[in-house]
Amino acid sequence: MQAVALYEVRGLRKAFGENVVLESVDLDVYEGEFLTLLGVSGSGKSLLVKMMLGLFPPDAGQLRFEGEELTSFEEREWIPVRRKIGMLFQESALFDSMTVFDNVAYGLREQRLLPEDEIPARVTESLNAVSLPGTEERWPKELSGGMQKRVALARAIAMRPGLLFYDEPTEGLDPINVTRVNRLLLSLRDRFGITTVVVTHNMRSAFATSDRLAFLHDGRIARTGTPAEFDALIDDPQLRHFVAASRLDLPTGESLPPPPLH
Ligand SMILES: Nc1ncnc2c1ncn2[C@@H]1O[C@H](COP(=O)(O)OP(=O)(O)OP(=O)(O)O)[C@@H](O)[C@H]1O
Ligand SMILES: [Mg+2]
Repeated sequence: MQAVALYEVRGLRKAFGENVVLESVDLDVYEGEFLTLLGVSGSGKSLLVKMMLGLFPPDAGQLRFEGEELTSFEEREWIPVRRKIGMLFQESALFDSMTVFDNVAYGLREQRLLPEDEIPARVTESLNAVSLPGTEERWPKELSGGMQKRVALARAIAMRPGLLFYDEPTEGLDPINVTRVNRLLLSLRDRFGITTVVVTHNMRSAFATSDRLAFLHDGRIARTGTPAEFDALIDDPQLRHFVAASRLDLPTGESLPPPPLH
């Protein structure tokens, strides 16, 4: 039986003036999977995930989450959806004027997800999960870049979303921290059952962590498949051309088998 997608995107289109960024995007995200969205800089990866959170209205197409049609939702209708879908933005900065504790608690308080007396336990649990125990009273500027990224991760997972988008979670990190963050994302998926969508340029990470890869190219998801399915296409000359053109160290093909059944 074909798995039902947790989130379905169909024929999604978005242009800014003459600039058609997303022409017709079709994408399924399956419950519990670790999906990586790949594509060259400027291909519209960040835009796509922001649109899946209702931050930009589509020109055309459909968005469906948990079987519910979101496409024509108004701003206030998106609010309960965003309680279930988390996002770690590419530019996710911490609030410098707040302690680590207040940063991690921020979304819980803003969305009134937990009563105030339950927040400390949730913050502590979230900081432990990103291997930053006991940092509650520290200030962001006292932390390294890698630690700040992990605090931002703790802030995202504190909300216990069912689906979480991470936009470039390992950008700017050294290889040791890249590996650490990758392990973390996998463990958070496993521990909290968070369906995970990662946007990255890091091929090594994508192949190491993902159940499936999706490649955004020319305004469409050009192909999807498991890392093995992408890997199997590496000798296809057409793909090599495509890889060279896209300047990505990525084996790709004109067509891939359909996504695996879950
Ligand atoms: N608010 C906006 N107004 C106008 N154009 C926008 C807006 N947001 C995105 N774009 C355009 O959409 C295109 C895709 O941008 P986006 O940030 O999604 O790319 P990306 O794939 O995430 O790139 P990167 O890998 O560098 O992060 C760019 O051409 C950008 O100029
Ligand atoms: Mg981006």
